Amino acid sequence: MRRKLAAGNWKMNGLGADLAELERLAAAPAPSQTGRLICPPATLISRATLVAGDIAIGGQDCHAAQSGAHTGDISAEMLADCGASAVILGHSERREDHGETDATVAAKVAAAWSEGLLAVVCIGESLAQRDAGETLALIGSQLAGSLPDTATGANTVIAYEPIWAIGTGRIPTLEQINEVHEFIRTTLTDRFGGEGHAFRILYGGSVKPENASEIFSVANVDGALVGGASLKADDFQAIIDALDAA
Ligand code: PGA
Repeated sequence: MRRKLAAGNWKMNGLGADLAELERLAAAPAPSQTGRLICPPATLISRATLVAGDIAIGGQDCHAAQSGAHTGDISAEMLADCGASAVILGHSERREDHGETDATVAAKVAAAWSEGLLAVVCIGESLAQRDAGETLALIGSQLAGSLPDTATGANTVIAYEPIWAIGTGRIPTLEQINEVHEFIRTTLTDRFGGEGHAFRILYGGSVKPENASEIFSVANVDGALVGGASLKADDFQAIIDALDAA
């Protein structure tokens, strides 16, 4: 069956001193059913790998090209070179702040795979889109456009993150989470056949120790992509424990 995944996205947070939180996480016993991934800012990746133990380290974005005249950007090869094994792609903050389209994301996914990185592909609707009843249509088109045809459960993880739940403390109802995750699973099996069952589908958006267990009880929720609550080892550990027990 699918191995569960607890992924932390530190976003633009974290200085060298904050690696102490990662060290504390790494000192806890490894969960039996759950993989762990922390995506610190790019500036910390190399140092993070030195203290992460068997916690995987990932980037938060990469450029689609391998190298070249792209000031300020980082390639997938560079992430792999400094010890990353995964990369978050198409996060709504990238889509909004940097105008990333599904096609941009798909190109980055292919670049990530070419360096052996696991692609954590983010999709999710805005509140206006949800209120307009467009959620499933949007999710379908984001999946169609952001995933190259050679996606597999081994090279790709899907993260469903409703934009209105990110950093707001507000989460969808369990019925709403169930509806979208089930739709994602069906979309994946329609396109990739039996392989569609192999993809992990994470929920993201205001996952906290207090709500983790109920979210993880929902079918087709194979883990979480956690922002704010991944910055503190105690909070993230509580989420890992809830996931491992689910
Ligand atoms: P949050 O962020 O947990 O702080 O809501 C989640 C995300 O953006 O991945």
